[in-house]
Amino acid sequence: YHDEGRFLRMLMFGKPGAGKGTLTARLVKKYDVLSLSTGDLLRQHIAERTEVGRMAEEIVATGGLLPDDIMLKVVSTKLDMLHNKHWILDGFPRTVGQGQLLDEHLQQQGCPLSLVVNLNVPDEVILSRISDRWVHLPSGRVYNLSYNPPKVAGHDDETGEPLTKRPDDNPETFARRLDKFYASTSPLLDYYLGNPGNARIVTLSGSTSDEIWPQLENSIRSNFPNVRERTESRE
Ligand code: AP5
Repeated sequence: YHDEGRFLRMLMFGKPGAGKGTLTARLVKKYDVLSLSTGDLLRQHIAERTEVGRMAEEIVATGGLLPDDIMLKVVSTKLDMLHNKHWILDGFPRTVGQGQLLDEHLQQQGCPLSLVVNLNVPDEVILSRISDRWVHLPSGRVYNLSYNPPKVAGHDDETGEPLTKRPDDNPETFARRLDKFYASTSPLLDYYLGNPGNARIVTLSGSTSDEIWPQLENSIRSNFPNVRERTESRE
């Protein structure tokens, strides 16, 4: 048990637009952890027109969810390369079925989840953020015109490439994604709360990252002292 507790194997859980991607990126930048975002992976599949991408295109654009078994395959091929690393999953699992598939998979690999972070942000806050969101597709970097604007308007800070709007970030599709969250994803929290596994579950509430970020850092630093800050040069 103690051995399991040494690795951060974290699930970032929350509504669409809650800040999962933003907070995950902040953790990855500051600490020696890796992340996998199923939203980013699917957007890459769509851009590259892979088999999964062709299937995902319409489902993502209309705010639906892809089948559980396909999502497990997309994630597990990547996840299996992260043995003996600290990692964060963003956007998966998102149904109780996916949660069960993931638990079985991790159990077989001998590396169960160790932390579930539940971001609790009010719906009104989220709706106002989405219209201001811009993304850099190849990297998944996320900007917000009022909260974390790019240094040069319309361009990615690191590559200078143009930013785009996500096709699923219009009010209509977003409402559908929020409905999906309540119907299919929020029951997953109850699954983890009643879970026989050893994962710690932490709920962080707040409307801004200035409220949420210190709570998140604190809970990782106190529970996972093995997670090291990156050296200055990589910051
Ligand atoms: P995905 O990309 O995972 O979308 P999502 O869960 O809807 O999450 P978002 O990316 O919209 O939000 P986020 O919580 O990361 O927020 P962000 O940090 O960007 O999935 C897209 C689609 O793929 C799904 O709809 C589905 O079709 C499919 N899919 C993916 N995974 C799947 C799965 N497992 N199974 C089946 N289908 C799957 O922040 C939002 C905005 O707010 C940004 O503009 C940001 O700058 C700003 N912001 C963030 N934090 C703050 C703050 N504290 N204060 C002010 N602004 C902030």
